[in-house]
Amino acid sequence: MTPRSLLKRFEAIVRLRAPLAAGASALALTAGCATGDGSDFDPHERAQSYESQGFATSPVQLGQQDYEELLATFKRGESIPLDVCRRVCERLGGEQVTSCNLPLEADGEEPLTLMCTVEYRYFHPVGRRPPGLLSAAQAEGATACGRWFAESARLEEGAVLAFAALLDELRAHGAPQALQEACLQALWDEVHHTHLTRALALALGADPRRPEVEEFRVRPLLEIALDNAVEGCVQETWSALQATWQAHFAQPGPIQQALAAIAVDETRHAELSWDIDAWIMTRLDEGERQQVIDARAEAVAALRRALASVDTAPLPAALGLPDSAQALDLFDTLSADLLAA
Ligand SMILES: [Fe+2]
Ligand SMILES: [Fe+2]
Repeated sequence: MTPRSLLKRFEAIVRLRAPLAAGASALALTAGCATGDGSDFDPHERAQSYESQGFATSPVQLGQQDYEELLATFKRGESIPLDVCRRVCERLGGEQVTSCNLPLEADGEEPLTLMCTVEYRYFHPVGRRPPGLLSAAQAEGATACGRWFAESARLEEGAVLAFAALLDELRAHGAPQALQEACLQALWDEVHHTHLTRALALALGADPRRPEVEEFRVRPLLEIALDNAVEGCVQETWSALQATWQAHFAQPGPIQQALAAIAVDETRHAELSWDIDAWIMTRLDEGERQQVIDARAEAVAALRRALASVDTAPLPAALGLPDSAQALDLFDTLSADLLAA
C-alpha cells in the first residue's frame, strides 16, 4: 500500500463519519483559537485546561528481566524508582507515568504484573516518540489551544530526534537505501511540523518546552523492531488517521492548514513504519518475530484503552479533535484494516 492510497483510505474513513461529526465542525467555527493579537480569545477557553483528564491505573505484563528486577526491589521493601516505572509503563501509551507498584496476588503468589498509574492527556498527532523521551510538565500558556500546540511542538521536536536516531540505526544495520532516504525525509518533515506547531503555540500565547531524552545508543535489531512496532506501526498510523480527521474538522485558517500538512506527512511516516517492519522481520528469527507481533498487539490494546479514557470536553472545538467515541470508532476501523496485518 502506498502513502497516497493509505491517505485516500484515511480520508474515506473520515468522510464516511462526517455527518456524525457535523456538530463538531459547526462548533469549530464558533469556538475558535485566536491567532491574532489575542483580543478575541474565547473567555471560556481561558479557564479551560486539559489537565482534568485525570489518572488511570492499568496492568502491564512484565518481561522476565523486568520481573526479576522489580521483584527484588519489592522484596527489599523499597518503592520502585520513577525512572523504572517510566521505562516499563511507557508501553501503555500514556504521556505521563506518575507511579507504579507490584500488587500481591490474593493467594500470596508472586506478582506477575505491574500496576502503572499514568496521567492521560489528549493525543497529539505527531507520531513517533524518540527512545528515552522524558516526561515533561505541561506547557504554560494563557489558553488551552496554545498549551495544546506547545505540547505538540515539544513532541514534534521529539519526533525529529526519533528519526535522527532511527536513521543512525538503519545505517548501522545496513538497511536498504530507500528506507534510509525515507527516514531522512521524515526527519525534515518533523522539523517542518515543529516550526508549524511552535509558531501556532507562540501566536496563541504559549511557550513550548524542548524535549529531553536519555543518551542515545544504537540498539540491536530486535529492540528497534519492537520500538518500531509500537511507535511506528501503531502510534504513527493512528496519528496519521487522527491528523486526517482534525484536518477535516479543525477551525479553517492557519490551524487547519497546519493539520492538513501534518496529516499528509504523518501518513507517509506510517507507511515508512510498515516498510521498516517488513524489512526488519526478514532479519529476525521466528521467536523474535513473534515478540514483535505480540508487542504490536499489546500496543493496539493499550492505545485503545487510552482512547477510551480521553475526554475532549475541556479542549477547544477549533482543534477538530475526535471525542472518545469517535476516536474509538476510528481506531477500531483502523485496527481491523491495518493493525491486524
Ligand atoms: Fe510530526
Ligand atoms: Fe511523524
